[in-house]
Amino acid sequence: MRSVLLIILLTMGTDGSRVRGGPGYSDLVLDLDLSAVLRRVDQRFLSVTIDASLASDERFMLLLRSQKLRTLAKALSPAFLRFGGTSQDFMVFNPQRSRQLDAGLTSEESCSDVQLPWWIESRLKEDWTLQQLILLKEEQQRKYRKVHFTELTVDMLLSFTRCSGLQLIFGLNALLRTADNNWNSSNARSLLQYCESKQYNMSWELGNEPNSFEKKAGIRVDGYQLGLDFARLRWMMSESKLYRNAGLYGPDVGQPKGRRVDLLKSFLQSGAQAVDACTWHHYYVNGRDTSLKDFLDPGVLDTLSIKINEVLETVKRVSPGKSVWLGETSSAFGGGAAGLSDTFAAGFMWLDKLGLGARLGLDIVMRQVLVGSGSYHMIDDNLDPLPDYWLSVLYKRLVGPEVLQVQAVSDFGQSKRVRLYLHCANKKSYKSRSVVLISMNLSKKAVSISVPELVSNSTVDAFVLQSDQPGEEGLRSRCVKLNGAVLKMVDDKTLPDLSGVRLPPAEHLQLPAYSLTFFVFLDTHAAACR
Ligand SMILES: *[C@@H]1O[C@H](CO)[C@@H](O)[C@H](O)[C@H]1NC(C)=O
Ligand SMILES: *[C@@H]1O[C@H](CO)[C@@H](O)[C@H](O)[C@H]1NC(C)=O
Ligand SMILES: *[C@@H]1O[C@H](CO)[C@@H](O)[C@H](O)[C@H]1NC(C)=O
Ligand SMILES: *[C@@H]1O[C@H](CO)[C@@H](O)[C@H](O)[C@H]1NC(C)=O
Repeated sequence: MRSVLLIILLTMGTDGSRVRGGPGYSDLVLDLDLSAVLRRVDQRFLSVTIDASLASDERFMLLLRSQKLRTLAKALSPAFLRFGGTSQDFMVFNPQRSRQLDAGLTSEESCSDVQLPWWIESRLKEDWTLQQLILLKEEQQRKYRKVHFTELTVDMLLSFTRCSGLQLIFGLNALLRTADNNWNSSNARSLLQYCESKQYNMSWELGNEPNSFEKKAGIRVDGYQLGLDFARLRWMMSESKLYRNAGLYGPDVGQPKGRRVDLLKSFLQSGAQAVDACTWHHYYVNGRDTSLKDFLDPGVLDTLSIKINEVLETVKRVSPGKSVWLGETSSAFGGGAAGLSDTFAAGFMWLDKLGLGARLGLDIVMRQVLVGSGSYHMIDDNLDPLPDYWLSVLYKRLVGPEVLQVQAVSDFGQSKRVRLYLHCANKKSYKSRSVVLISMNLSKKAVSISVPELVSNSTVDAFVLQSDQPGEEGLRSRCVKLNGAVLKMVDDKTLPDLSGVRLPPAEHLQLPAYSLTFFVFLDTHAAACR
């Protein structure tokens, strides 16, 4: 298997001939710069979310005690875990223990003590399938119930993030308003007090997609007022010893479109000083109205760069220097596109978003969702990892925060179907001065890439992800192969071997059709990656 792959992957350049159409001829030439870092993203660049709807019935929070889930989450550390979404603005904290669910849980247990008996886990998984139907109906009818949550929800989140090496961001309810439409902070105050009493190290958000408050709840909050609400929250945090320097992020506005840009602008006028990063949300397509074609369409992928540039421009004008994050993002909105968002096909949107986001100026990208609601999850309802999970773990292991310049040029300009990004390799996995080329091949037609001397004399570790099923329809598979072998957990505590295939230096790279690939060039002496 592996030796076959080797031949597919690299065509050894022996004589360096460049006869058009002949052996060794390349349609694309890789043009890269290893001397300077273009920009640097946060170590937690690839981060994840859990939708607050998991707490719609508090007992589902117990799923976060699953050993398998914790093993999977840990492999994504360091990262943020944002707990938020539409339901957050309908959630009210009841400062009390949950009486029915409390039995047997001690608050000071160590990570190794955490257990979820298998029969409870399997019962919860079954019930969650039904719960999702209820939640879907709620969303379709835009009738959101008020949800009361107790200390249990926060305890479960903190235990989960602390034991998995993730950092929790908790989204507060911004739709608790006073008669004169200011934020009523009294419920948030009691939550902060509880969290401080437990010494929970966490950061905060306030409100989810304020641009649609009116549609969801019939309450209109303009950007300027929301900024004042954030300033109030910041002031509350400054009074707390623990949260004085904690993170506050917002306003989690939907992607720029008409009035939303104005909302963002006016928010920043009054709230920029209160937030450590400006957050917005992005989805490429509507989950109910999309196709495999969209998921592979370079034109659809390119729409993201327009949006990113628009937000960066807006933020730069009002609040120069402010960090910009994708606070919630996935392939398709409305819970994802079933049969696409949870399959290998989703990887093109996800990897391209990571590549573009890092290159254009985002510092953090939070993927909706790690587990739970919708079909855009990285871990399915049986708590088994989906292709985007494996893609994310590889990204974490291989890709460092330093972004480098790369492009593939041909006689006809840039290829849209072969998409490339270049970073320093992650120094935790590779020695310094190594680089990693992130590449995607969306095409059916033959193109090959020739590699410049700067990297062509380097040994390569190749990580090729492909669907386990052939052809275009095979992209709808929920199974992924790494270098030819299907990826599966070994057991609840162990991930499979994720090593690459070591290849000799070569002048040409070939990416199989519909593949997602990381090439780590081990000895490039890249000055930018010292
Ligand atoms: C804020 O909410 C609390 C709890 O519901 C309520 O007791 C209080 O009167 C409200 N404050 C204002 C100013 O509306
Ligand atoms: C909370 O966690 C962050 C990130 O791990 C760390 O930098 C910070 O020092 C911690 N804060 C406290 C008060 O422990
Ligand atoms: C992309 O895949 C096609 C189909 O297998 C192949 O012919 C082409 O050479 C690949 N492109 C690159 C850059 O390797
Ligand atoms: C590869 O080539 C570059 C420059 O072309 C050189 O600096 C580097 O030392 C070479 N690396 C190896 C392993 O020969």
